[in-house]
This record gives sequence, C-alpha cells and structure tokens, in this order.
Amino acid sequence: MAHWTLDDIPWQKFDRAKVDPEIVRIVKAASLVEQNGGDYTEYLCGVFGDDPAFQDVARRWGGEEIQHGQALGRWAMLADPTWDHAKAAARFTAGFRVNVNATQSLRGTRTGELVSRCIVETGTSSYYTALYEAVDEPVLKIICHNIAADELRHYKLFYTHMKRYLDIEGLNKWRRFRIAFQRMRDAEDDELAYAYYAANEGDVPYDRKRYNGAYARRAIGVYRWHHVERAIAMGFKAAGLKPHGRVNMWAAHVAWWGLQKRAARLERIAA
Ligand SMILES: [Fe+2]
Ligand SMILES: [Fe+2]
Repeated sequence: MAHWTLDDIPWQKFDRAKVDPEIVRIVKAASLVEQNGGDYTEYLCGVFGDDPAFQDVARRWGGEEIQHGQALGRWAMLADPTWDHAKAAARFTAGFRVNVNATQSLRGTRTGELVSRCIVETGTSSYYTALYEAVDEPVLKIICHNIAADELRHYKLFYTHMKRYLDIEGLNKWRRFRIAFQRMRDAEDDELAYAYYAANEGDVPYDRKRYNGAYARRAIGVYRWHHVERAIAMGFKAAGLKPHGRVNMWAAHVAWWGLQKRAARLERIAA
C-alpha cells in the first residue's frame, strides 16, 4: 500500500503567486519520467522472471512511481492550465520506450540491475529533496517532500535486494563499482532530455543536446552542496565503497565542482 495518495495533498492551498515558471518546466518533465514507472515495472518483472517475491516488490514500487508522475502532473496543470499531462505523457512514450520484453538486465546481471536502481533512487531522492528546499509554492513543497521520502525508501529496498543477489551471483567489487559509475554517467542519457522536450516544446524537431542542456540548466540550479555530498555517499554505498571516508569526501568535492562548472557553461550558452 502506498504511504500517501493524491487525496492527501492539500490542493486547495495552491498559491499561484509563488509559482516559478522555470520550475514548472522541470516539474512537467519529471512528471513524464515518473509516469514511465509502469514500463519499468514490466521490464523488472521480465528481468526477475523467476522471482515472484521481487516482482511483487517491483509492482508496488512501480505504482508509487506512477503516483509521483500523477501528483507532479496534476500540480503542473494547476500551474499551467493550458498543459495536458496525459497528452504530454503519450507524446513522451511515443518517442521513448523502455524495453518491456527484456528477460536479461541491461546491466548484465541482476545484481548489476539492482546497483543501477540504487543509483537512480539516489538521484531522485537527492533531486526531490533539493527541489523541496528550493521551491516556495506550498503544494509543490508537500509533493516533493512526499516523493523524496518514497525515493529514499526505494533506495533502501533495492539495496536490500542487491545484497541478497550479491550473495547469489557473487558480483565482484570492481564490476559493482563500474556499474554504479556507469549509471551515474547515464544520468546524461536521453530520457530526461526527451521528457523535457515532450513536456515543453511544440512541433519542433528533437535536439538531444539542446534539450539536455535546457533541462540540466534548470535542474542543477536547485542543488546545494549538502545534496551532492549526500548523493555521493549513497552512490558510494551502492557501489560497495565506504560512504563516509576521505575518498567519498574528495569525490563529493569533485562532483560539486563539476556541477558548478557545468551550470556556468549552460548559463553562458543560454545567455
Ligand atoms: Fe519517483
Ligand atoms: Fe523511486
């Protein structure tokens, strides 16, 4: 059972005066990616075809991700009454499809798949926490708070199952680290850029680089140092490294520096 529902959100507290149009654009994009949880559930059920207990977990997880999409989509329609979440979601899935017929993980092993899921949940948990702290609009604040709590639980959930499969498959430390690192880099993949495009653009051709930059410029803006530090610690833990050692702190500083540099570059391009 979900920890909250759309009926728990006090929609009547929506305050138009506190809506930031730049935030609306990234919320629209996020609502489409979250809505894709249904396809990812099918993918996971295929990859874990003979593990009905995990399939149950994946179905519950997918239901929560879809609910994230619905909550963000409903808020975006309040903020922009001309926008249609269902229509944008159909446009997004017409151009970006998860392989729902897969029976083997894209990451090679089930442990690898679960390491990768931990990294995704690290990203979403830190992103919604950062968004929660950055926004003023009270309804969006509550939605982000609820979602951030779900994403952290999802991380713990996948981490628990990853440890179980680590014992079964015996994935070595180096491969685990490589998958985690690769998945962090994949944050640059098509999904977010295409969601931003499908959510915000009219009938213009898709340009991956352009929309990736448009999304990232707005999304990076909500991050602060403590979000990055925490995300790197969670990523390290999923990768099998010490989450609170000196290497972790060094990596967090490098990541924060890289993020600042990228933000400055994207601002220059936009200007
Ligand atoms: Fe989510
Ligand atoms: Fe999640």
